[in-house]
Amino acid sequence: MKKLLFFVCSCLMVVSSFSQQATHTIRSGEIWPDDQGIHINAHGGGILKYNDTYYWFGEHKSDHTSDALVGVTCYASTDLVNWRNCGVALSVSDERGSDIERGCILERPKVIYNKVTKKFCMWFHLELKGRGYDAARYGVAVANRPEGPYKFLYSQRANAGTWPIGFGQQELAVLDTLDASHFQEWTPAWRKAIDEGLLVRRDFGTGQMSRDMTLFIDDDGKAYHIFSSEENLTLHIAELTGDYLHHTGRYTRVAPAGHNEAPAIFKHEGTYWMITSGCTGWAPNEARMFSAPSIWGPWTQHPNPCRGPKAEITFGGQSTYILPIGDQYIFMADIWRPRHPSDARYIWLPIEFEDGKPIVRWRDEWEVGK
Ligand code: GAL
Repeated sequence: MKKLLFFVCSCLMVVSSFSQQATHTIRSGEIWPDDQGIHINAHGGGILKYNDTYYWFGEHKSDHTSDALVGVTCYASTDLVNWRNCGVALSVSDERGSDIERGCILERPKVIYNKVTKKFCMWFHLELKGRGYDAARYGVAVANRPEGPYKFLYSQRANAGTWPIGFGQQELAVLDTLDASHFQEWTPAWRKAIDEGLLVRRDFGTGQMSRDMTLFIDDDGKAYHIFSSEENLTLHIAELTGDYLHHTGRYTRVAPAGHNEAPAIFKHEGTYWMITSGCTGWAPNEARMFSAPSIWGPWTQHPNPCRGPKAEITFGGQSTYILPIGDQYIFMADIWRPRHPSDARYIWLPIEFEDGKPIVRWRDEWEVGK
């Protein structure tokens, strides 16, 4: 009897996994097995489409710590549902003092392909080992093949010695008058001073802080690095050089003192849309949304785009990426599990439009491409 029961259960499992594959069903928040039956370990990730394959890059999370003990993982798929584990794309280093030494914090990796150099370029948020979140750097690595191996190039803060767009003589004269010790945090006067560049000035010499981040390639092939800067108070959008490996020095600021993290961006019919989160660490909060007619702004804030149960906390997740597939877009987010980081889950939901604005409606399950 036991044997029969086992046989029937096994058949049911095979049929159910077959039907999940055959129907291309995505179930947000559930275990998402890879080709070896193991929950995908690619958090804070993003997707690169190269030829006809999607490559999913993300943070490898261990069972008991969010520190980087392995590096950036890569999975490949042609249908966005069934993923083949391609292993570690960028490995942390065992060399003492390396920027990416095992035990550093390496988050939110994103990869873009440069058609001119034919290189795959990875950018990520990096915190040096043993320094908590103080370093606030970005890191860059490069590979000849999508799945890697990626060679680490360098890490640093952003745009040292360069003022953002719009900081002309007049603005700099105002900034000169500001005395940091005069402001009490979160007062209107402090917000105004942040807007006027109090922290940009503080970090002008050493470079601007660079934490939660994404990359975006525009229709003209220009790429941009979008990241939380100025103590996570203000987003920066920085143009990349033609080889996608450096900043050009041209950058703008979005929502000064708005406290935005986890930026994810897409462009639809000429409008740039960005979904972000607030700053509550691993705990979920209400998503924010912005739009602009140009990557350089002006950026306008809209209400929370999420709809359905737990919409006020982004369904328990935090944005990481928005993937265009044809004329559709998939909103990707992470449900963090700080006590058991490798068990963090994924939210993938299609973006719909309501009155011309994107919305993200919760669905227990849905089918990609339908
Ligand atoms: C979040 C951020 C994550 C991670 C975490 C650490 O706000 O989006 O990427 O840095 O904080 O607490």
